[in-house]
Amino acid sequence: MRRIRIFDTTLRDGEQSPGVNLMREEKIEIARQLERLGVDIIEAGFPITSSGDMEAVQAIAREVRSPVIAGLARTHRADIEAAAKALEQAARPRIHVFTSFSPVHLRHMLRKTEDEVIEMSVASIEAARTYVDDVEFSGQDAMRSDPAFVFRAIAAAIAAGATTINIPDTVGYTAPEEFAALVRAVRDKVPGADRVHISVHCHNDLGLAVANTLAGLMAGADQCEAAVNGIGERAGNTSLEEVAMAIATRQDFFRLQTGIAAQEIGRTSRLVSRLTGMPVQPNKAIVGANAFAHEAGIHQDGVLKERTTYEIMNPQDIGQGETQLVMGKHSGRHAFQKKLLALGYDLPEAEQQELFRNFKALTDRKKQVTDQDIQSLVEDEIYRFEDAYELVHYHISSAGGAPSTATVGVASRSGAAAGKVTREAAVGQGPVEALYRALQRATGLDAELRDYAIQSVGGGSDAQGEVRCSIGYQGQTFVGSGVSTDILEASAFAYLHALNKAAAVRAQAEPQEPTGREAI
Ligand code: KIV
Ligand code: ZN
Repeated sequence: MRRIRIFDTTLRDGEQSPGVNLMREEKIEIARQLERLGVDIIEAGFPITSSGDMEAVQAIAREVRSPVIAGLARTHRADIEAAAKALEQAARPRIHVFTSFSPVHLRHMLRKTEDEVIEMSVASIEAARTYVDDVEFSGQDAMRSDPAFVFRAIAAAIAAGATTINIPDTVGYTAPEEFAALVRAVRDKVPGADRVHISVHCHNDLGLAVANTLAGLMAGADQCEAAVNGIGERAGNTSLEEVAMAIATRQDFFRLQTGIAAQEIGRTSRLVSRLTGMPVQPNKAIVGANAFAHEAGIHQDGVLKERTTYEIMNPQDIGQGETQLVMGKHSGRHAFQKKLLALGYDLPEAEQQELFRNFKALTDRKKQVTDQDIQSLVEDEIYRFEDAYELVHYHISSAGGAPSTATVGVASRSGAAAGKVTREAAVGQGPVEALYRALQRATGLDAELRDYAIQSVGGGSDAQGEVRCSIGYQGQTFVGSGVSTDILEASAFAYLHALNKAAAVRAQAEPQEPTGREAI
Protein backbone atom coordinates (compact mmCIF):
# COMPACT_ATOMS: atom_id res chain seq x y z
CA MET A 1 0.00 0.00 0.00
CA ARG A 2 1.39 3.40 -0.95
CA ARG A 3 0.64 6.16 1.59
CA ILE A 4 -1.02 9.23 0.06
CA ARG A 5 -0.72 12.54 1.86
CA ILE A 6 -3.93 14.54 2.03
CA PHE A 7 -3.45 18.27 1.50
CA ASP A 8 -6.63 20.05 2.52
CA THR A 9 -7.36 23.37 0.83
CA THR A 10 -10.84 24.02 2.27
CA LEU A 11 -9.58 27.16 3.99
CA ARG A 12 -7.84 28.55 0.91
CA ASP A 13 -9.26 27.33 -2.41
CA GLY A 14 -12.50 26.32 -0.65
CA GLU A 15 -12.90 29.76 0.84
CA GLN A 16 -12.64 31.17 -2.68
CA SER A 17 -16.14 29.77 -3.32
CA PRO A 18 -18.50 32.61 -4.24
CA GLY A 19 -20.22 34.10 -1.19
CA VAL A 20 -18.01 32.34 1.36
CA ASN A 21 -16.31 34.50 3.97
CA LEU A 22 -15.08 32.67 7.04
CA MET A 23 -14.32 34.49 10.26
CA ARG A 24 -10.97 33.85 11.94
CA GLU A 25 -12.52 31.78 14.76
CA GLU A 26 -14.43 29.72 12.20
CA LYS A 27 -11.23 29.00 10.29
CA ILE A 28 -9.54 27.89 13.49
CA GLU A 29 -12.47 25.63 14.31
CA ILE A 30 -12.35 24.07 10.85
CA ALA A 31 -8.56 23.63 11.12
CA ARG A 32 -8.97 21.86 14.47
CA GLN A 33 -11.54 19.55 12.94
CA LEU A 34 -9.27 18.88 9.94
CA GLU A 35 -6.59 17.86 12.41
CA ARG A 36 -9.06 15.41 14.00
CA LEU A 37 -9.92 14.17 10.53
CA GLY A 38 -6.26 13.31 10.04
CA VAL A 39 -5.28 15.45 7.07
CA ASP A 40 -1.53 15.71 6.56
CA ILE A 41 -1.36 19.31 5.37
CA ILE A 42 -3.73 22.23 5.93
CA GLU A 43 -3.47 25.09 3.47
CA ALA A 44 -4.63 27.75 5.90
CA GLY A 45 -4.78 30.76 3.60
CA PHE A 46 -3.07 33.25 1.35
CA PRO A 47 -1.44 35.63 3.85
CA ILE A 48 -0.57 38.54 1.54
CA THR A 49 -4.19 39.02 0.46
CA SER A 50 -5.57 40.58 3.67
CA SER A 51 -4.79 41.16 7.31
CA GLY A 52 -7.67 38.77 8.08
CA ASP A 53 -5.99 35.97 6.12
CA MET A 54 -2.64 36.75 7.70
CA GLU A 55 -4.10 36.60 11.22
CA ALA A 56 -6.04 33.42 10.52
CA VAL A 57 -2.95 31.62 9.20
CA GLN A 58 -0.94 32.86 12.20
CA ALA A 59 -3.59 31.63 14.64
CA ILE A 60 -3.88 28.23 12.95
CA ALA A 61 -0.08 27.91 12.85
CA ARG A 62 0.00 28.60 16.59
CA GLU A 63 -2.86 26.33 17.60
CA VAL A 64 -2.95 23.38 15.24
CA ARG A 65 0.23 21.44 15.75
CA SER A 66 0.05 18.01 14.10
CA PRO A 67 -0.47 18.71 10.41
CA VAL A 68 1.87 20.72 8.23
CA ILE A 69 0.45 24.25 7.88
CA ALA A 70 0.85 25.83 4.45
CA GLY A 71 0.51 29.43 3.32
CA LEU A 72 0.10 30.37 -0.33
CA ALA A 73 2.36 32.87 -2.11
CA ARG A 74 2.79 34.15 -5.66
CA THR A 75 6.30 34.41 -7.07
CA HIS A 76 6.71 37.82 -5.42
CA ARG A 77 9.12 38.64 -2.65
CA ALA A 78 6.36 40.34 -0.59
CA ASP A 79 4.13 37.25 -0.83
CA ILE A 80 6.92 34.96 0.34
CA GLU A 81 7.72 37.27 3.25
CA ALA A 82 4.05 37.47 4.23
CA ALA A 83 3.72 33.67 4.12
CA ALA A 84 6.91 33.23 6.16
CA LYS A 85 5.67 35.73 8.75
CA ALA A 86 2.27 34.03 8.98
CA LEU A 87 3.93 30.66 9.53
CA GLU A 88 6.56 31.81 12.03
CA GLN A 89 4.98 29.87 14.90
CA ALA A 90 4.01 26.76 12.96
CA ALA A 91 5.40 23.45 14.17
CA ARG A 92 5.72 22.31 10.55
CA PRO A 93 5.51 25.25 8.14
CA ARG A 94 5.24 25.03 4.36
CA ILE A 95 5.31 27.86 1.82
CA HIS A 96 3.31 27.07 -1.29
CA VAL A 97 4.66 29.11 -4.20
CA PHE A 98 2.59 29.26 -7.37
CA THR A 99 2.86 30.68 -10.83
CA SER A 100 1.17 29.84 -14.16
CA PHE A 101 2.23 27.56 -16.96
CA SER A 102 -0.29 27.94 -19.79
CA PRO A 103 0.21 30.29 -22.78
CA VAL A 104 -3.11 32.00 -22.07
CA HIS A 105 -2.11 32.77 -18.48
CA LEU A 106 1.40 33.87 -19.47
CA ARG A 107 0.15 36.19 -22.20
CA HIS A 108 -2.88 37.75 -20.50
CA MET A 109 -2.28 37.50 -16.77
CA LEU A 110 1.43 37.36 -16.07
CA ARG A 111 2.60 39.11 -19.25
CA LYS A 112 5.87 37.19 -18.97
CA THR A 113 7.86 34.88 -21.23
CA GLU A 114 8.47 31.26 -20.28
CA ASP A 115 12.06 32.09 -19.29
CA GLU A 116 10.90 34.95 -17.08
CA VAL A 117 8.37 32.67 -15.37
CA ILE A 118 11.10 30.15 -14.61
CA GLU A 119 13.44 32.88 -13.36
CA MET A 120 10.80 34.30 -10.99
CA SER A 121 9.85 30.82 -9.77
CA VAL A 122 13.45 29.87 -9.02
CA ALA A 123 14.11 33.14 -7.16
CA SER A 124 10.90 32.70 -5.13
CA ILE A 125 11.58 29.09 -4.21
CA GLU A 126 15.11 30.00 -3.16
CA ALA A 127 13.74 32.87 -1.09
CA ALA A 128 11.12 30.60 0.50
CA ARG A 129 13.80 28.05 1.35
CA THR A 130 15.63 30.68 3.40
CA TYR A 131 12.59 30.63 5.74
CA VAL A 132 11.37 27.01 5.64
CA ASP A 133 12.60 23.57 4.57
CA ASP A 134 9.27 22.58 3.09
CA VAL A 135 8.39 24.41 -0.15
CA GLU A 136 5.66 23.40 -2.57
CA PHE A 137 5.62 24.68 -6.14
CA SER A 138 2.59 24.83 -8.49
CA GLY A 139 2.14 25.98 -12.07
CA GLN A 140 -1.49 26.85 -12.68
CA ASP A 141 -3.30 25.47 -15.69
CA ALA A 142 -0.70 22.76 -16.27
CA MET A 143 -3.13 20.75 -18.38
CA ARG A 144 -3.46 23.46 -21.03
CA SER A 145 0.28 24.02 -21.17
CA ASP A 146 3.14 22.86 -23.36
CA PRO A 147 4.49 19.71 -21.65
CA ALA A 148 8.08 20.61 -22.63
CA PHE A 149 7.74 23.90 -20.71
CA VAL A 150 6.06 22.13 -17.78
CA PHE A 151 8.99 19.70 -17.49
CA ARG A 152 11.60 22.46 -17.83
CA ALA A 153 9.92 24.64 -15.17
CA ILE A 154 9.49 21.73 -12.76
CA ALA A 155 13.13 20.67 -13.18
CA ALA A 156 14.24 24.22 -12.38
CA ALA A 157 11.91 24.33 -9.36
CA ILE A 158 13.34 21.08 -7.99
CA ALA A 159 16.90 22.31 -8.52
CA ALA A 160 15.97 25.53 -6.67
CA GLY A 161 14.83 23.54 -3.64
CA ALA A 162 11.10 22.77 -4.04
CA THR A 163 10.23 19.68 -2.00
CA THR A 164 6.72 19.08 -3.40
CA ILE A 165 5.71 19.63 -7.01
CA ASN A 166 2.00 20.14 -7.53
CA ILE A 167 0.32 19.61 -10.87
CA PRO A 168 -2.90 21.64 -11.00
CA ASP A 169 -5.71 21.20 -13.48
CA THR A 170 -6.82 24.70 -12.57
CA VAL A 171 -9.80 24.92 -14.93
CA GLY A 172 -10.99 21.32 -14.65
CA TYR A 173 -10.14 20.61 -18.29
CA THR A 174 -8.38 17.27 -18.28
CA ALA A 175 -9.57 13.65 -18.37
CA PRO A 176 -8.24 10.74 -16.28
CA GLU A 177 -5.96 9.07 -18.85
CA GLU A 178 -4.51 12.37 -20.02
CA PHE A 179 -3.84 13.54 -16.46
CA ALA A 180 -2.27 10.22 -15.50
CA ALA A 181 0.02 10.43 -18.54
CA LEU A 182 1.32 13.86 -17.51
CA VAL A 183 1.90 12.79 -13.89
CA ARG A 184 3.75 9.69 -15.11
CA ALA A 185 5.84 11.74 -17.51
CA VAL A 186 6.81 14.19 -14.74
CA ARG A 187 7.82 11.26 -12.54
CA ASP A 188 9.80 9.52 -15.28
CA LYS A 189 11.32 12.37 -17.27
CA VAL A 190 11.98 15.34 -15.01
CA PRO A 191 15.43 15.30 -13.42
CA GLY A 192 15.12 15.13 -9.62
CA ALA A 193 11.42 14.15 -9.63
CA ASP A 194 12.25 10.98 -7.70
CA ARG A 195 13.52 13.15 -4.80
CA VAL A 196 10.32 15.18 -4.32
CA HIS A 197 6.67 14.58 -3.58
CA ILE A 198 4.32 14.83 -6.54
CA SER A 199 0.93 16.34 -5.85
CA VAL A 200 -2.31 16.60 -7.84
CA HIS A 201 -4.81 19.46 -7.61
CA CYS A 202 -7.97 19.13 -9.70
CA HIS A 203 -11.02 21.29 -10.27
CA ASN A 204 -14.46 19.98 -11.05
CA ASP A 205 -15.62 22.00 -14.06
CA LEU A 206 -16.44 18.84 -16.02
CA GLY A 207 -17.35 16.80 -12.95
CA LEU A 208 -14.07 14.86 -13.27
CA ALA A 209 -12.04 16.18 -10.34
CA VAL A 210 -12.19 13.03 -8.22
CA ALA A 211 -11.64 10.71 -11.20
CA ASN A 212 -8.68 12.79 -12.38
CA THR A 213 -7.21 12.90 -8.88
CA LEU A 214 -7.44 9.12 -8.49
CA ALA A 215 -5.87 8.64 -11.92
CA GLY A 216 -3.02 10.98 -10.92
CA LEU A 217 -2.45 9.06 -7.69
CA MET A 218 -2.43 5.73 -9.53
CA ALA A 219 0.14 7.21 -11.92
CA GLY A 220 2.55 7.89 -9.08
CA ALA A 221 1.52 11.11 -7.33
CA ASP A 222 1.71 10.80 -3.55
CA GLN A 223 -0.15 13.94 -2.46
CA CYS A 224 -3.77 14.76 -3.15
CA GLU A 225 -5.16 18.28 -2.82
CA ALA A 226 -8.83 18.41 -1.94
CA ALA A 227 -11.52 20.35 -0.10
CA VAL A 228 -14.24 19.17 2.25
CA ASN A 229 -17.59 18.81 0.44
CA GLY A 230 -15.67 19.59 -2.78
CA ILE A 231 -16.05 23.33 -2.30
CA GLY A 232 -13.81 25.76 -4.17
CA GLU A 233 -13.57 28.09 -7.14
CA ARG A 234 -16.46 27.72 -9.65
CA ALA A 235 -17.56 24.04 -9.66
CA GLY A 236 -15.18 23.35 -6.79
CA ASN A 237 -12.15 21.23 -5.97
CA THR A 238 -11.72 17.51 -5.61
CA SER A 239 -13.97 16.35 -2.79
CA LEU A 240 -11.78 15.18 0.08
CA GLU A 241 -14.28 12.68 1.46
CA GLU A 242 -14.89 11.11 -1.94
CA VAL A 243 -11.19 10.50 -2.61
CA ALA A 244 -10.59 9.25 0.92
CA MET A 245 -13.52 6.82 0.81
CA ALA A 246 -12.74 5.64 -2.73
CA ILE A 247 -9.24 4.76 -1.52
CA ALA A 248 -10.53 3.15 1.68
CA THR A 249 -13.39 1.22 0.06
CA ARG A 250 -11.44 0.01 -2.97
CA GLN A 251 -8.08 -0.71 -1.40
CA ASP A 252 -8.05 -3.96 -3.36
CA PHE A 253 -7.99 -1.93 -6.57
CA PHE A 254 -6.12 1.27 -5.77
CA ARG A 255 -3.54 -0.26 -3.38
CA LEU A 256 -3.30 3.13 -1.64
CA GLN A 257 -3.96 4.37 1.87
CA THR A 258 -4.44 7.70 3.63
CA GLY A 259 -4.33 8.85 7.26
CA ILE A 260 -7.97 9.99 7.19
CA ALA A 261 -10.07 9.02 10.24
CA ALA A 262 -13.25 8.13 8.35
CA GLN A 263 -15.39 8.43 11.51
CA GLU A 264 -14.77 12.20 11.44
CA ILE A 265 -16.02 12.70 7.88
CA GLY A 266 -19.68 13.37 8.72
CA ARG A 267 -18.87 15.92 11.40
CA THR A 268 -16.28 17.68 9.23
CA SER A 269 -18.71 17.92 6.34
CA ARG A 270 -21.47 19.36 8.54
CA LEU A 271 -19.11 21.85 10.14
CA VAL A 272 -17.82 23.13 6.81
CA SER A 273 -21.32 23.32 5.38
CA ARG A 274 -22.60 25.18 8.40
CA LEU A 275 -19.77 27.70 8.67
CA THR A 276 -19.48 28.39 4.93
CA GLY A 277 -23.25 28.46 4.47
CA MET A 278 -22.89 26.09 1.50
CA PRO A 279 -25.45 23.29 1.72
CA VAL A 280 -24.46 19.79 0.67
CA GLN A 281 -26.55 18.55 -2.25
CA PRO A 282 -28.76 15.64 -1.09
CA ASN A 283 -27.37 13.20 -3.65
CA LYS A 284 -23.73 14.09 -3.00
CA ALA A 285 -21.59 10.96 -2.62
CA ILE A 286 -20.55 10.03 0.95
CA VAL A 287 -22.03 13.03 2.81
CA GLY A 288 -25.31 13.86 1.04
CA ALA A 289 -28.54 13.31 2.97
CA ASN A 290 -29.55 10.62 0.45
CA ALA A 291 -26.16 8.92 0.21
CA PHE A 292 -27.44 6.03 2.34
CA ALA A 293 -31.19 6.39 1.80
CA HIS A 294 -33.00 3.57 0.03
CA GLU A 295 -36.27 4.44 -1.68
CA ALA A 296 -37.16 1.57 -4.02
CA GLY A 297 -38.97 -1.29 -2.30
CA ILE A 298 -36.60 -3.88 -3.69
CA HIS A 299 -33.62 -1.94 -2.34
CA GLN A 300 -35.21 -1.49 1.08
CA ASP A 301 -36.02 -5.16 1.22
CA GLY A 302 -32.45 -6.06 0.26
CA VAL A 303 -30.85 -3.73 2.82
CA LEU A 304 -33.14 -4.95 5.60
CA LYS A 305 -32.12 -8.52 4.86
CA GLU A 306 -28.43 -7.75 4.41
CA ARG A 307 -27.02 -4.20 4.43
CA THR A 308 -24.29 -4.95 1.91
CA THR A 309 -26.79 -5.81 -0.82
CA TYR A 310 -27.02 -2.13 -1.70
CA GLU A 311 -24.44 -0.42 0.53
CA ILE A 312 -20.74 -0.51 -0.28
CA MET A 313 -19.87 1.53 2.83
CA ASN A 314 -21.32 1.53 6.31
CA PRO A 315 -22.70 5.01 7.12
CA GLN A 316 -21.65 4.56 10.74
CA ASP A 317 -18.02 4.14 9.67
CA ILE A 318 -18.05 7.67 8.29
CA GLY A 319 -19.93 9.25 11.18
CA GLN A 320 -23.17 9.46 9.21
CA GLY A 321 -25.44 6.81 10.68
CA GLU A 322 -27.81 7.01 13.61
CA THR A 323 -26.35 5.47 16.76
CA GLN A 324 -28.40 2.91 18.68
CA LEU A 325 -29.13 4.98 21.79
CA VAL A 326 -32.59 6.56 21.34
CA MET A 327 -33.01 9.83 23.20
CA GLY A 328 -36.17 11.43 24.55
CA LYS A 329 -37.87 13.05 27.52
CA HIS A 330 -36.76 10.36 29.98
CA SER A 331 -33.10 10.24 28.98
CA GLY A 332 -30.85 11.34 31.82
CA ARG A 333 -27.57 13.21 32.00
CA HIS A 334 -25.51 10.03 31.82
CA ALA A 335 -27.23 8.74 28.69
CA PHE A 336 -26.83 12.17 27.13
CA GLN A 337 -23.09 12.18 27.88
CA LYS A 338 -22.78 8.72 26.35
CA LYS A 339 -24.62 9.92 23.27
CA LEU A 340 -22.30 12.90 22.89
CA LEU A 341 -19.29 10.61 23.02
CA ALA A 342 -20.86 8.19 20.55
CA LEU A 343 -21.34 11.13 18.16
CA GLY A 344 -17.67 12.10 18.58
CA TYR A 345 -18.05 15.10 20.92
CA ASP A 346 -15.69 14.91 23.86
CA LEU A 347 -16.62 18.21 25.53
CA PRO A 348 -15.71 19.93 28.79
CA GLU A 349 -18.15 19.47 31.69
CA ALA A 350 -19.50 23.05 31.56
CA GLU A 351 -20.43 22.73 27.88
CA GLN A 352 -22.03 19.32 28.49
CA GLN A 353 -24.21 20.79 31.23
CA GLU A 354 -25.35 23.68 29.05
CA LEU A 355 -26.11 21.25 26.24
CA PHE A 356 -28.02 18.96 28.56
CA ARG A 357 -30.25 21.91 29.54
CA ASN A 358 -30.85 22.68 25.86
CA PHE A 359 -31.53 19.01 25.18
CA LYS A 360 -34.12 18.89 27.97
CA ALA A 361 -35.81 22.01 26.59
CA LEU A 362 -35.94 20.34 23.20
CA THR A 363 -37.55 17.18 24.59
CA ASP A 364 -40.44 19.35 25.77
CA ARG A 365 -41.11 20.23 22.16
CA LYS A 366 -40.07 17.05 20.42
CA LYS A 367 -40.95 13.48 21.33
CA GLN A 368 -37.92 11.71 19.94
CA VAL A 369 -34.63 13.56 19.68
CA THR A 370 -32.56 12.22 16.79
CA ASP A 371 -28.79 12.16 16.37
CA GLN A 372 -29.16 14.99 13.86
CA ASP A 373 -31.02 17.07 16.48
CA ILE A 374 -28.23 16.52 18.96
CA GLN A 375 -25.57 17.32 16.38
CA SER A 376 -27.39 20.58 15.65
CA LEU A 377 -27.62 21.41 19.36
CA VAL A 378 -23.92 20.78 19.85
CA GLU A 379 -22.79 22.58 16.74
CA ASP A 380 -25.02 25.53 17.57
CA GLU A 381 -23.41 25.76 20.97
CA ILE A 382 -19.75 25.11 20.26
CA TYR A 383 -19.37 26.90 16.94
CA ARG A 384 -20.69 30.27 18.07
CA PHE A 385 -18.07 32.87 18.79
CA GLU A 386 -18.43 35.82 21.14
CA ASP A 387 -21.82 36.99 19.95
CA ALA A 388 -22.45 40.71 20.41
CA TYR A 389 -26.24 40.29 20.44
CA GLU A 390 -28.64 37.74 21.85
CA LEU A 391 -32.33 37.34 21.11
CA VAL A 392 -34.33 37.83 24.29
CA HIS A 393 -37.86 37.72 22.91
CA TYR A 394 -39.82 38.10 19.72
CA HIS A 395 -43.44 38.38 18.76
CA ILE A 396 -44.74 38.07 15.25
CA SER A 397 -48.18 38.71 13.91
CA SER A 398 -49.02 37.51 10.44
CA ALA A 399 -52.26 36.97 8.54
CA GLY A 400 -53.23 36.44 4.91
CA GLY A 401 -53.77 39.65 2.93
CA ALA A 402 -52.20 42.01 5.46
CA PRO A 403 -48.63 43.04 6.21
CA SER A 404 -46.85 41.21 9.02
CA THR A 405 -45.49 42.89 12.12
CA ALA A 406 -42.66 41.86 14.41
CA THR A 407 -41.40 43.06 17.78
CA VAL A 408 -38.04 41.91 19.08
CA GLY A 409 -35.91 42.36 22.17
CA VAL A 410 -32.16 42.02 21.65
CA ALA A 411 -29.61 42.07 24.48
CA SER A 412 -26.12 43.47 23.93
CA ARG A 413 -23.45 41.18 25.31
CA SER A 414 -20.36 43.30 24.93
CA GLY A 415 -19.04 46.86 25.03
CA ALA A 416 -20.45 49.75 27.00
CA ALA A 417 -24.06 48.60 26.34
CA ALA A 418 -23.52 45.09 27.74
CA GLY A 419 -26.69 43.83 29.38
CA LYS A 420 -28.94 46.45 27.80
CA VAL A 421 -32.02 45.12 25.98
CA THR A 422 -33.09 47.05 22.89
CA ARG A 423 -36.70 46.65 21.76
CA GLU A 424 -37.78 47.40 18.21
CA ALA A 425 -40.73 46.74 15.94
CA ALA A 426 -41.11 46.63 12.17
CA VAL A 427 -43.59 45.82 9.41
CA GLY A 428 -42.86 43.59 6.40
CA GLN A 429 -44.58 41.87 3.49
CA GLY A 430 -44.22 38.58 5.34
CA PRO A 431 -43.22 37.46 8.85
CA VAL A 432 -39.56 36.89 8.01
CA GLU A 433 -39.17 40.31 6.42
CA ALA A 434 -40.83 41.99 9.42
CA LEU A 435 -38.65 40.01 11.81
CA TYR A 436 -35.43 40.80 9.95
CA ARG A 437 -36.22 44.51 9.76
CA ALA A 438 -36.87 44.62 13.50
CA LEU A 439 -33.56 42.81 14.17
CA GLN A 440 -31.73 45.26 11.91
CA ARG A 441 -33.13 48.18 13.86
CA ALA A 442 -32.34 46.60 17.22
CA THR A 443 -28.71 45.96 16.27
CA GLY A 444 -28.23 49.12 14.19
CA LEU A 445 -26.73 46.99 11.42
CA ASP A 446 -28.02 47.95 8.03
CA ALA A 447 -27.47 44.58 6.36
CA GLU A 448 -28.96 43.35 3.11
CA LEU A 449 -30.47 39.84 3.06
CA ARG A 450 -28.92 37.96 0.12
CA ASP A 451 -30.04 34.42 0.59
CA TYR A 452 -32.44 32.49 2.80
CA ALA A 453 -33.08 28.74 2.86
CA ILE A 454 -34.91 26.43 5.21
CA GLN A 455 -34.79 22.67 5.56
CA SER A 456 -35.87 20.15 8.14
CA VAL A 457 -33.42 18.41 10.46
CA GLY A 458 -34.42 14.78 9.91
CA GLY A 459 -38.02 13.85 9.19
CA GLY A 460 -41.39 13.76 10.91
CA SER A 461 -43.97 16.41 11.68
CA ASP A 462 -42.12 17.53 14.82
CA ALA A 463 -38.78 17.88 12.99
CA GLN A 464 -36.76 20.98 13.71
CA GLY A 465 -36.29 23.59 11.01
CA GLU A 466 -32.80 24.68 10.09
CA VAL A 467 -32.50 28.12 8.50
CA ARG A 468 -29.41 29.37 6.71
CA CYS A 469 -29.13 32.88 5.44
CA SER A 470 -26.47 35.15 4.07
CA ILE A 471 -26.30 38.90 4.38
CA GLY A 472 -24.24 41.62 2.77
CA TYR A 473 -22.75 44.25 5.07
CA GLN A 474 -20.24 46.87 3.97
CA GLY A 475 -19.17 44.87 0.93
CA GLN A 476 -18.70 41.58 2.78
CA THR A 477 -20.87 38.47 2.97
CA PHE A 478 -21.72 36.81 6.27
CA VAL A 479 -23.62 33.57 6.67
CA GLY A 480 -25.71 32.52 9.62
CA SER A 481 -27.62 29.43 10.67
CA GLY A 482 -30.22 28.67 13.29
CA VAL A 483 -32.20 25.62 14.38
CA SER A 484 -35.47 25.42 16.26
CA THR A 485 -38.77 23.56 16.31
CA ASP A 486 -40.28 26.97 15.48
CA ILE A 487 -39.14 28.06 12.02
CA LEU A 488 -39.55 31.76 12.77
CA GLU A 489 -37.36 31.39 15.82
CA ALA A 490 -34.83 29.49 13.64
CA SER A 491 -35.05 32.38 11.14
CA ALA A 492 -34.31 34.90 13.90
CA PHE A 493 -31.36 32.85 15.19
CA ALA A 494 -29.89 32.53 11.68
CA TYR A 495 -30.17 36.23 10.90
CA LEU A 496 -28.79 37.25 14.28
CA HIS A 497 -25.93 34.79 13.81
CA ALA A 498 -24.98 36.53 10.55
CA LEU A 499 -25.51 39.99 12.11
CA ASN A 500 -23.19 39.01 14.96
CA LYS A 501 -20.42 38.28 12.46
CA ALA A 502 -20.99 41.66 10.81
CA ALA A 503 -20.94 43.26 14.28
CA ALA A 504 -17.53 41.69 14.97
CA VAL A 505 -16.16 43.26 11.78
CA ARG A 506 -17.81 46.59 12.67
CA ALA A 507 -16.21 46.45 16.13
CA GLN A 508 -12.76 45.82 14.64
CA ALA A 509 -13.15 48.84 12.37
CA GLU A 510 -14.20 51.16 15.20
CA PRO A 511 -11.47 53.16 16.96
CA GLN A 512 -10.47 51.38 20.16
CA GLU A 513 -11.21 52.99 23.52
CA PRO A 514 -8.05 54.52 25.00
CA THR A 515 -6.38 52.09 27.36
CA GLY A 516 -4.16 54.60 29.12
CA ARG A 517 -1.06 52.78 27.85
CA GLU A 518 -0.73 54.91 24.71
CA ALA A 519 1.56 57.43 26.40
CA ILE A 520 4.08 54.74 27.41
O1 KIV B 1 -6.19 25.69 -9.10
C1 KIV B 1 -5.02 26.07 -8.96
O2 KIV B 1 -4.21 26.05 -9.87
C2 KIV B 1 -4.63 26.54 -7.64
C3 KIV B 1 -3.17 26.78 -7.43
C4 KIV B 1 -2.91 27.95 -6.56
C5 KIV B 1 -2.52 25.54 -6.93
O3 KIV B 1 -5.44 26.65 -6.76
ZN1 ZN C 1 -7.27 25.46 -7.27
